[in-house]
Amino acid sequence: MFYQPARGNAEAIGLCALHTGDCAEVLPQLPTGSVDLVVTSPPYNIGKAYEKRAALDAYVDFQTGVINECVRLLGPDGSICWQVGNWVDNGEIVPLDSVVIPIFRALGMKIRSRVVWTFGHGMHCRRRLSGRHETIVWATKSDEYHFDLDSIRVPQKYPNKRHYKGPKMGQLSGNPLGKNPGDVWDISNVKNRHPEKTSHPCQFPEELVERLVKSLTKPGQKVLDPFAGAGTVGAVCNRLDRKSVLVERVPEYVDIIRERLGGPKAQARRPVSDVVALAPRMEDLFTVSVSNTTLAAIDPSTVSISGE
Ligand SMILES: C[S@@+](CC[C@H](N)C(=O)[O-])C[C@H]1O[C@@H](n2cnc3c(N)ncnc32)[C@H](O)[C@@H]1O
Repeated sequence: MFYQPARGNAEAIGLCALHTGDCAEVLPQLPTGSVDLVVTSPPYNIGKAYEKRAALDAYVDFQTGVINECVRLLGPDGSICWQVGNWVDNGEIVPLDSVVIPIFRALGMKIRSRVVWTFGHGMHCRRRLSGRHETIVWATKSDEYHFDLDSIRVPQKYPNKRHYKGPKMGQLSGNPLGKNPGDVWDISNVKNRHPEKTSHPCQFPEELVERLVKSLTKPGQKVLDPFAGAGTVGAVCNRLDRKSVLVERVPEYVDIIRERLGGPKAQARRPVSDVVALAPRMEDLFTVSVSNTTLAAIDPSTVSISGE
């Protein structure tokens, strides 16, 4: 696949500011404290079409640099959700949440949940158990973080269960809005016949992103995905009246995002709320300001895509 590095010029699609470029170059140009949530699924270094295998140390250095920038960009009550699987080398695995959690903690971020995302399908392994889950590490910048649990409650198992004794006897014992969804989410992964499938090899499902965006932001707030892939975060944000900032360095994937968010099949947005204007100006979506901030020293050539 041809990969032409590009400086991060953004284009607007609905509520999305789409940057074609390397996040290591684009993120330092964005203003401090300008996003409310980061949701991303970084490359896992497992030899997908878009990455070269790099030594774990180089991978960790690269992730540290990007996480550092994401923390700088995050507002004080914001959250970061880092969705990862396993780093695999010659049959040996390293669960990447065990690598990124210490990075977040060293930066003063507080881990709130480690969500286990389970799915029914995947590769069949012969010499280890077939992987059927990945994780989402949810970290907040402070103790004053936004979390709207009611927006993501799920139906109670026994919705009509009532207190059978005491002063509340006869009243419903569970929350009528539903129960906390817990930290094990069973959501189908996006394989060939999935309605959201694009030609990108590794999308995460909209339902997973929707839970995070609904509960961790308010309408009109801004969500960043530095490894945008097929633009799932932007698609969900356009639908839920949230602004988004997407960064993707492979032009072919950027084309998928353009089509998904702005093409004829793009999902209609919900009725516009009082909070968000229908046609935001570019400067409402982001303001480019060159800051002195730079990423930690990395060698980008070790983490670039394959087949270039
Ligand atoms: C796991 S995929 C993300 C898929 C995405 N969550 C979705 O639902 O479509 C990771 C993406 O990060 C992109 N990527 C890898 N390194 C990058 C970098 N340094 N800057 C920007 N994008 C990068 C890859 O091209 C790939 O599309």
